[in-house]
Amino acid sequence: MILKLVVLSAFVGVLSPSAAYKITTNVIDGVPSFLNITTAPFIKIGTGYYFIQISIPKNWHAAFESCRRMEADLVAFESLEEFNMIWSHLSAMHPVRPFWTAGTDFAEQGKHEWFSNGQPVPSTLWRKGEPNNYGNNEHCDNIYVTHGFGLNDDVCSKLFFYVCKAPQPKTASFIVW
Ligand code: BGC
Ligand code: CA
Repeated sequence: MILKLVVLSAFVGVLSPSAAYKITTNVIDGVPSFLNITTAPFIKIGTGYYFIQISIPKNWHAAFESCRRMEADLVAFESLEEFNMIWSHLSAMHPVRPFWTAGTDFAEQGKHEWFSNGQPVPSTLWRKGEPNNYGNNEHCDNIYVTHGFGLNDDVCSKLFFYVCKAPQPKTASFIVW
């Protein structure tokens, strides 16, 4: 906020003090590529920004914390379209382990929700036969590309890769004239 005010007063300072100025503001979704601003370590897939950890496996809780340290969250899919896009991206990477998502049934056994936002995990995202709570000990949800399309509930202490999603960035600009 302070930075915005400084920029505004710098603009006004170079303009003639007697004139009246019209200021138009504009806010758009995402970061336009022409700005050359890095979004690393997040990469853009579709309209979202994601971090894919594919070398250091962690248990679900450690993966959750790792995302939070980046001011992001374990991925929570908002639509089947978003899930399809990430699924294709991950399977093209030929991962040797599954990826944790934000889905868990910690709050109520058998009721899977995104732990990051409390919304239900859409039933359309599950692999056939899942969630099966195999061995009565599966409470964290992953993307297991070698086992087929869809989410799978699994044992939270297993060391898997994970995907974080950054909060949606917006770009604000203003024109003074
Ligand atoms: C996984 C389970 C899964 C089962 C069926 C097992 O290897 O640990 O979570 O339900 O495979 O695909
Ligand atoms: Ca399972």
